[in-house]
Amino acid sequence: MQFEVIAKCSTTRARLSRMTLAHGVTMLPTFMPVATQAAIKGLTPEQMESLGVTLILNNTYHLNLRPSLKVLNEVGGAHKFQGWERNLLTDSGGFQLVSLSKFTTITEEGALFASPFTGEPTMLTPEESMSIQHSIGADIIMQLDDVVPSLTTGPRVEEAMERSVRWLDRCAAFHEKSGKTDRQNLFAIVQGALDPALRDRCLNAMIDRKSKVMGYAIGGLSGGEEKDVFWRIVKQCADKLPEDRPRYSMGIGFAEDLLVCVALGVDMADCVFPTRTARFGVALTHRGPLNLRLSKHARDFDPIDKNCPCPTCTGKTSKAILHHTITHETAAAHAITLHNVTFQAQVMGRVRTAIIEDSFPTYLRSFFADYFGDTG
Ligand code: GUN
Ligand code: ZN
Repeated sequence: MQFEVIAKCSTTRARLSRMTLAHGVTMLPTFMPVATQAAIKGLTPEQMESLGVTLILNNTYHLNLRPSLKVLNEVGGAHKFQGWERNLLTDSGGFQLVSLSKFTTITEEGALFASPFTGEPTMLTPEESMSIQHSIGADIIMQLDDVVPSLTTGPRVEEAMERSVRWLDRCAAFHEKSGKTDRQNLFAIVQGALDPALRDRCLNAMIDRKSKVMGYAIGGLSGGEEKDVFWRIVKQCADKLPEDRPRYSMGIGFAEDLLVCVALGVDMADCVFPTRTARFGVALTHRGPLNLRLSKHARDFDPIDKNCPCPTCTGKTSKAILHHTITHETAAAHAITLHNVTFQAQVMGRVRTAIIEDSFPTYLRSFFADYFGDTG
C-alpha cells in the first residue's frame, strides 16, 4: 500500500490523502458503501463504479457461510465473484460477535458461532479469519477483534481490549507467513469501549505494533452512546494514531457524524445506513433526510434533488412516483439507493475539495446550516 497525505486543513485535523492499493487509487477521506454479502443491495458493480465509488466493504463472516470459501477459491476471490474491479475491504467477523451474540461463545482461542443457517458450531479464530480474508483477496483486511457493545462497563471491556491486542499479534503472525503482505494490507482495530484509560492502553499497544499494520480502525463505537462521548473517543484515538497510517472509523454513516470524524482526523468510514434507509424509502439530501413514504410527497413531481447528478434525479423519476411505488416495487428502492450512494460520495467529494482549497471549516458551516436549517 502507498499512503500519502497531500493536504491538511489549517484549522481542524482534516486531511486529504491518496491511498494506492492493488485495485487502484482511493482518495481519502472516503465513505465505503457496504456489500455485506458481496452485493450492494439494489446496485450492480457497474453502477457503483459509475457513481465514482472506488472502495467497498464485504463481510468475512457472511462470505464464509455463503457462497463459502470453496466457491471463492474456485472463481479466484471475491473481486471476480462479484465483478468488482476496484478496491475491496473485508471486515474480520469481529463485529458479528456483537450483532449475533446470542449465538456466540468467546474464548481465548476464538469465537464459537452457531451457524444461523444450519445451527452447526463454527470456530472463528484470528488465524481462520486471516485465512478466509486471504481467500477473499480483499485489498484491506481487518484483524479479528473481541468487540463488546459500546455501553458495556466493568472487567469485560478490559478483557476484550487486551484480547484484541493478542488477537492482533496472532493475525499479524499468520498474515506475515502467508506471503500475501504485498497485495493485502492488515489493519488493527482499537477497542476499549468508552473508557479513555483503556483506549489509551490499547492505542499504546497497537502503535507499538505499527511495523506490522498498514492502517488503524477505531472500533467499538456507534452502539447507542451519547454523541459527545463518541466524539471524545474518536478525537482521543485520531490524535494519537500515527500520521502516516490511514484512520478508519467503523460503522459511521450519518453525514453529520462523518463530517465531525473527518474534522477530528478520520480518513475512512463505512455503514449500512445510506443503503438500508433507502430501502425504507428515505432519501438523503443536503437539506436533511426525506421520508418518501409520507403522503406529502404524493403530488411532488420534482426529483429528490434537482442539483443531484445521480441517474434517479437526472432521469424522469419524481418523488411522487417513488412515494407511489416504494411499498411494493424493488425498482423504487434501487432508485433511492443510487441517489443515497451518490449523496454520500458527493458529501465526501466536497470535503476533499474543501481540504485542498483550505475552506473545510466554511464547508462544515454551510453543510450544517443546510442540513439542519429550517426548510419549511
Ligand atoms: N464494525 C463496526 N464496529 C466494529 C468493530 O468494533 N469491530 C469490527 N470488526 N467491525 C466493526
Ligand atoms: Zn439523486
